[in-house]
Amino acid sequence: MTKVSIIGAGNVGATVAQYLASKNICDIVMLDINEGAAKGKALDLTQSVAVTGGSAKITGTSDYKDTANSKVIVITAGSPRKPGMSRDDLLKINASIVSGAARESHRYSPNAIFVVVSNPLDIMTYLVWKETGVSTSRVIGMAGVLDSARFQSFIAEELKISAEDVRAMVLGGHGDLMVPLPRFSTVNGVPVTELIGPKRIAEMSARTANGGAEIVNHLKTGSAWYAPGAATAQMVEAIVTGGRKLYPCSVHTGEKYGLPAVFTGLPVILGKRGVERVVKLKLNKAEIAALKTSALSIEANVKRLNELKEEAAKAAEPSTKAKDA
Ligand code: NAI
Ligand code: 2OP
Repeated sequence: MTKVSIIGAGNVGATVAQYLASKNICDIVMLDINEGAAKGKALDLTQSVAVTGGSAKITGTSDYKDTANSKVIVITAGSPRKPGMSRDDLLKINASIVSGAARESHRYSPNAIFVVVSNPLDIMTYLVWKETGVSTSRVIGMAGVLDSARFQSFIAEELKISAEDVRAMVLGGHGDLMVPLPRFSTVNGVPVTELIGPKRIAEMSARTANGGAEIVNHLKTGSAWYAPGAATAQMVEAIVTGGRKLYPCSVHTGEKYGLPAVFTGLPVILGKRGVERVVKLKLNKAEIAALKTSALSIEANVKRLNELKEEAAKAAEPSTKAKDA
């Protein structure tokens, strides 16, 4: 079977593995610096397959050699923001974890497609692209599928209907400035703008943008993992099976939307080559402006990441005095 490696066997990584195992479409390698967690969860999942059925081989490791020749690498490794930690601290820590994970996994799987989950999502996706040097079609961030699922679930709740019938589209960055698109969200083809008034739609859009924080506020010690795991597995499935599915994913902006050159949520066709095509929607002025504001904020964060890297490189240089001595 095709091999998929998941870097980071924490809450999200293990949930991605669980959904993939239940789909029975690939063998799964779970890698974590905490080798015991990766091995223990892989063993537990293997035994769950004995109950639920399927033949996926699931292994746990801390050695990148075991990820060799993966078709897809999913990066979920990261540190959560702890009390007293600034945004810059978190950016530095996760950038260091994610760039190491990208480099090492690319070394053993040079043809792999990367699905990035670690936060801050759009910045980490950019970083994986920079570190690996692979084409933009092979680096895809997971956020839009999750944010759209949240919007879908709120719409279904509002209309008291099955969430299965609701398809929603949320573009832009994975943060406060994400861009839910009611005009492109439907209940079995009927635009939600025909079914729900503008005030309620605005409230549900705001709840979607705050969807991750709403869950953190309940959990207190971590962030969501069930919906993120399900969303990531759905993207991996489209790649492994060549599904050619239209999903909102964090991808390189390219030329189509006139946005700054960053990674942000756009509609794409996802298939066996990764991003097979970025789909151009006819957005109105307000929608384009919102997408631009979100992209500019991502651009500022990428700039900050590069500044932090330069500062760290300077701090690591031996001083002139030391060199002369
Ligand atoms: P978690 O803390 O449960 O798992 C993270 C795992 O990464 C831990 O098992 C840890 O040991 C591992 N790890 C740390 N450094 C590593 C390294 N250098 N190499 C290999 N493994 C390493 O966190 P959780 O809940 O699984 O979240 C993972 C990431 O996904 C976080 O950055 C979180 O913010 C992000 N996330 C993103 C979402 C999105 O929509 N893009 C949704 C949910 C979470
Ligand atoms: C979420 O949206 C924390 O990004 C994560 O749940």
